This record gives sequence, C-alpha cells and structure tokens, in this order.
Amino acid sequence: MILVTGGTGLVGGHLLWHLLKENDRISAVCRKTSNLEPLRSIFSFYTSNPDDILKRIDWRIADVLDEISIQEATVGVDVLYHCAAVVSMGNNSGSLMDTNVRGTRNVVQAALKSRVGKFCFVSSIAACGRASDGEKVDENCIWTDFPHQSPYVKSKYYSEQEVWNGIAKGLNAVIVNPGVILGVSGTDTGSSQLFCQIQKGLLFYTNGGSGYVDVQDVVKVMIRLSNSSASGERFVLVGENCSNKDILCWMADGFGKRRPFIGIGKKMLLIVGILSEFIGKVFHFSPLIDRSTARSSTRREYYSARKIENTIAFQFTPIEKCINEVCEFRNLTRY
Ligand SMILES: NC(=O)c1ccc[n+]([C@@H]2O[C@H](COP(=O)([O-])OP(=O)(O)OC[C@H]3O[C@@H](n4cnc5c(N)ncnc54)[C@H](OP(=O)(O)O)[C@@H]3O)[C@@H](O)[C@H]2O)c1
Repeated sequence: MILVTGGTGLVGGHLLWHLLKENDRISAVCRKTSNLEPLRSIFSFYTSNPDDILKRIDWRIADVLDEISIQEATVGVDVLYHCAAVVSMGNNSGSLMDTNVRGTRNVVQAALKSRVGKFCFVSSIAACGRASDGEKVDENCIWTDFPHQSPYVKSKYYSEQEVWNGIAKGLNAVIVNPGVILGVSGTDTGSSQLFCQIQKGLLFYTNGGSGYVDVQDVVKVMIRLSNSSASGERFVLVGENCSNKDILCWMADGFGKRRPFIGIGKKMLLIVGILSEFIGKVFHFSPLIDRSTARSSTRREYYSARKIENTIAFQFTPIEKCINEVCEFRNLTRY
C-alpha cells in the first residue's frame, strides 16, 4: 500500500494524480480540518472529471503532530511519501518548526515501527547550504546557521536531519531537495503567491535568483526514486537557475500583463525588512518582509541537478513552459 502525507498540498496533490495513473487506489493523510478544494483544482488541471479521481483516494485522518494517529495511519504501508509541512517564508516559527521537525520525527518513527519498505522525503534546497564563490550548490554542500536565517530554512535542515537519523536506524529512505516548486496549487500560498501578484499586476522585481522546478518533475522523480534501489541519498531537483526578473516577466507574459520593470536592490529591501520587523514587533503582527526574506529575495544562488540527471537520466521541463501552462490554466479557470 502507498501512503502520501500532505496530499491536499501542492506536491502531495500532483503526486496523488501521478500515482493514481498507475494505481487503482492510493491512501493519503488528511487532517479533520483539511480542505479538499485545492486538490480538486489540482486534479482539474489534468482532467475534466476531478471528482472521479478524488473518489479513488482512501483518506486516513491523522496529524503529523499526533504520534498515535500517524502511527495508526502507517500500518500496512509499503511506500510512504512524506510531503506534509508548513511552507512559509514569514516568521511564524511556532507551528512551522514543530510541524516540520517534530512532525517529521513522528512520521519517521512511525515508518520504522510499521516497517515501511521505502520512505521518500521532500526536503528543500534550503537544507543544502551554500556553495563557495563561483560554485553551484549540490548534494555535498554543508549547511551552516547564521543570524537572521529564516525559520523555514532552519526547519527544512532540521527536518531532513530527522530522516538521516531514521536512515541510521535502518529506514530505507531517499530525500529530494527541490528548488522553488512551480505548478497549479489551488491556493494562493507558497510559490502561487507569485502568480497571484503578477496576475493582479506588479511593477517591481528584486535582483536575486534561485533554482526553480516544475512540480510535475518533482513528483515524477519521487516516484522513480521510490521504485528504484536508491537509498540513503539526497538529490537536488532544479530544472533551471533563473533570475527573479525572468520568472516574473514570464508570468506577466503568460497573463498578458505588463512586465515588471522597476528593480529593487538589496539595500532598499533590507531597509524595508528592518522597518517592517520593527513595526511588526510594536503592533504584534508577522511582517510580510523581514530581514531574512529581504536577504533571500535579493540573493542569487545557483544549483546543480547533475546527480539526478545522471542517476535516472532525467530531463527537466523548461521553466518558461511550466509557467505558461500554469498561467493558461489560471486564465481559463479565472482562478
Ligand atoms: N512549495 C515549494 O516551493 C517548495 C520548495 C521546496 C520544498 N518544498 C517542500 O515540499 C513539501 C510540500 O510542500 P507544498 O508546497 O506541497 O506545501 P503545501 O501546498 O503548503 O501543503 C502542505 C501540506 O501539509 C499538510 N500539513 C500541514 N500541517 C500538517 C499536520 N500537522 N499534519 C498533517 N498534515 C499537515 C497540509 O494539510 P492541510 O490541508 O490539512 O493543511 C498540506 O496537505 C514541504 O516539505 C516543503 O517544505 C516546497
């Protein structure tokens, strides 16, 4: 039996679709509070009958923070894909650290106890650290902490460590480290916020850049690795290294909007970050931009996906093509 955690999210939703192409039924974890509408939107991207596909999922109600429920959910599972997490660049370190780190520990412990045959964990390039000057970040880079590191970045590093601890205890696991994942999500959170902002019209761009990847590539690689003998290894998944400007301009083209043309430099954004943090502290709210988000959105990092390309001869989808497909879907559905 195959079980997916985070099945209502961006990665879990697309993973369920691709798994259901090969399997009659798939089990997935959802919480009592989970909303299935975003998943219906993801399935609508692929088919005109999303409800028929939804019916083929056996839901197991569990919360990764509740050891007992997650233990019960993993009974009889052969392959477990752990995609559940809190994804946020803001400063909400409470639920974020807890869900991502303790939640992953609980899922790993449950998988060990239930003798799950293969475990696939979605980490992030955020857990890979940085490369020396002029080099690309790859699987061998060493992660280090530094002041004003975003809680999300820390949570991804420490959650991946939970999986490595599980591997040391005998868990048969593979880890994927995707870049910024683009795809239809059915919500306007995560990377979909970018599509949403551009759809409304955006004049500004920041000078940084990062590694980007199509969500369909992420889940296809996850399935292939889970069906392979790969074990105790991590794989960077980045289709292309793009500037923030390129990404936003391709989105604007896809929506038929004016391309953003005002570049915001590092110093300016850092000042906005410091001011927002100060105002947030005084008025007790989490600012949209703080020092860590200001730094990350103006930094330019380059990533190498050579390991996965060589291991399973995988070819990534061009990012401009992926963006066009998402824009086309959003234009059609007026989502
Ligand atoms: N999005 C990106 O650009 C990106 C990039 C690199 C890596 N990743 C990683 O990819 C993974 C999936 O991310 P995503 O973008 O698919 O996230 P997402 O769309 O925000 O989905 C998160 C999923 O986690 C579930 N979840 C959250 N807290 C839970 C809990 N306590 N118990 C059980 N389920 C819980 C949510 O369920 P509910 O419906 O109940 O809320 C939802 O299904 C994460 O590990 C993330 O760090 C994402």
